[in-house]
Amino acid sequence: MRKITANLYMTLDGRGEFPKYPGSDLPSGKPGEPDEFFRKMWTDRFSDVTTVVMGRRSFTGHRRVHSLKGRKPNDPKFLFDYSRFLDRVEKVCLSHRLKRLDWENSRVLKGDLAKIVARIRSEKGGNIIIEGGPRLIHEVLRLDLADDYWFLVMPVVFGRGPRYWGPMKAQTNLKLLSASTMRYGELVLHYEAVRGKAAAKGK
Ligand SMILES: NC(=O)c1ccc[n+]([C@@H]2O[C@H](COP(=O)([O-])OP(=O)(O)OC[C@H]3O[C@@H](n4cnc5c(N)ncnc54)[C@H](OP(=O)(O)O)[C@@H]3O)[C@@H](O)[C@H]2O)c1
Repeated sequence: MRKITANLYMTLDGRGEFPKYPGSDLPSGKPGEPDEFFRKMWTDRFSDVTTVVMGRRSFTGHRRVHSLKGRKPNDPKFLFDYSRFLDRVEKVCLSHRLKRLDWENSRVLKGDLAKIVARIRSEKGGNIIIEGGPRLIHEVLRLDLADDYWFLVMPVVFGRGPRYWGPMKAQTNLKLLSASTMRYGELVLHYEAVRGKAAAKGK
């Protein structure tokens, strides 16, 4: 079955922002190479992910910055590889208002998120990443739609910006698969969804 992974990039207070903090303007990995989070989330998965799902704001932001057309000549090679990957994969943009997307291999879907996710999962293809933004990911968490979650937690209490957390339908249990620290105090957390009997027993 196609695996669905959600990506979260948040401050300690759960805001979807990329604030400045000591080290944030320096490479977290070796210069010119992807850091651990980027490798695990993207570079290592170029061969098994065929669909990336984004809300409208996330989609238009990625098209502007991360499509091959948006790349800057001095960007490192791994970002060009990322752009080639994003151009190539199927992209689903969730939107009520966009009709034209101007990015190859893209389509617009709208409506009930649980039905949309079930539909995409039933189609032929490899694994699926739900990239954001925070409002979409909150809905994914609320409806328990992803099989696993990668968190990048930045060492900042930011106090403003879009929220990842909010009211839930019910308690959701996640199992920690790995936790690590990056060079400037960021946490990289990987959780999988706990379903079935284990979830009911609160295990
Ligand atoms: N990965 C990321 O993209 C990321 C990560 C961290 C922080 N951020 C920041 O977060 C901000 C954007 O966050 P956001 O959470 O507001 O944006 P978002 O989730 O990317 O986009 C929200 C929009 O998606 C559409 N949408 C979502 N669910 C839908 C559904 N079921 N059916 C139809 N349309 C649906 C709606 O667009 P319509 O209005 O067109 O209907 C909605 O207004 C940016 O400032 C960005 O810098 C982004």
